[in-house]
Amino acid sequence: MVNPGEFIEEKVEEIASEVGEKNAVIGLSGGVDSSTAAALAYEAIGDQLTAVYVDTGLMRKGETDEIRETFDYMESLRIVDATDRFLEELDGETDPEAKRHVIGEQFIREFETVAREVDADYLVQGTIYPDRIESEGTIKSHHNVGGLPERIDFDGIVEPMRDLYKDEVREVARALGLEEMISERMPFPGPGLAVRIIGEVTEEKLDVAREANHVVEEELQEYEPWQALAAVIGKATGVKGDNRVHGWVVAVRSVESRDGMTARAQELDWDTLQRMQSRITGAHENVARVVYDVTHKPPATIEYE
Ligand code: XMP
Repeated sequence: MVNPGEFIEEKVEEIASEVGEKNAVIGLSGGVDSSTAAALAYEAIGDQLTAVYVDTGLMRKGETDEIRETFDYMESLRIVDATDRFLEELDGETDPEAKRHVIGEQFIREFETVAREVDADYLVQGTIYPDRIESEGTIKSHHNVGGLPERIDFDGIVEPMRDLYKDEVREVARALGLEEMISERMPFPGPGLAVRIIGEVTEEKLDVAREANHVVEEELQEYEPWQALAAVIGKATGVKGDNRVHGWVVAVRSVESRDGMTARAQELDWDTLQRMQSRITGAHENVARVVYDVTHKPPATIEYE
């Protein structure tokens, strides 16, 4: 990328001339990639762009409200509350790839409904360079709206950031004036908290994962990790009050990386680890243990599923 200002100018022109007088849709997740792509495309084509935020029920704490506030200026923003439908579809599903597939499918269904309603001719996506590389591999399938073009015959797919790395996207986001909360935000996977819950997704595990991720994001901000997260990884015995409980084990993970393709587990100080432990075990009556993951990628991946 030459410099963010020139990049924006060039892409805004490109998008405007490609889409012309037609309509476009983009899936907005709250992450830096889709938010930046949406802001770029909105600058190019205004309300011809419909940004669709699907609340899957697998989002971070407070995410939906934040989206509503941040993108309030887009009249065409659509917020779809699909929590019940996602949880129903995920009910009983334990296999990691099957979970991803269910979520991807449901996401496409929700997105397709809006895309047809607004008569969208173009699909804008926040795909970045590492996404394209990782999708070529066979480690795991990445959702986003990958299957949508097979369902709707778009005139074209617009991916203004397809050659950028994450740090370059952040530069563009800052230059576009997006809030720090967005431009500096850690990556969050499309399938959301579902890949931070091993096995079946239940409301209780989701509550634990959501609270624990919130604690980790707050506590580890000062370490400036590439990504920090908490995952519900199983059950173990603990003592809460006078009772033995067979409660959830929450794993905390914090990694440094440039592109997510490889990563190093971060060294954290004991006080920070203990503070997180105390807040996470205190956040829910059924959390029995907190462990810290010291594995690099490879051999582990960043997410748990
Ligand atoms: P892994 O776990 O493969 O993750 O080391 C590498 C980076 O990709 C993110 N990730 C995903 N992003 N859909 C996404 O949009 C997915 O299914 C998905 N799985 C992992 C992960 O958070 C990390 O930044």
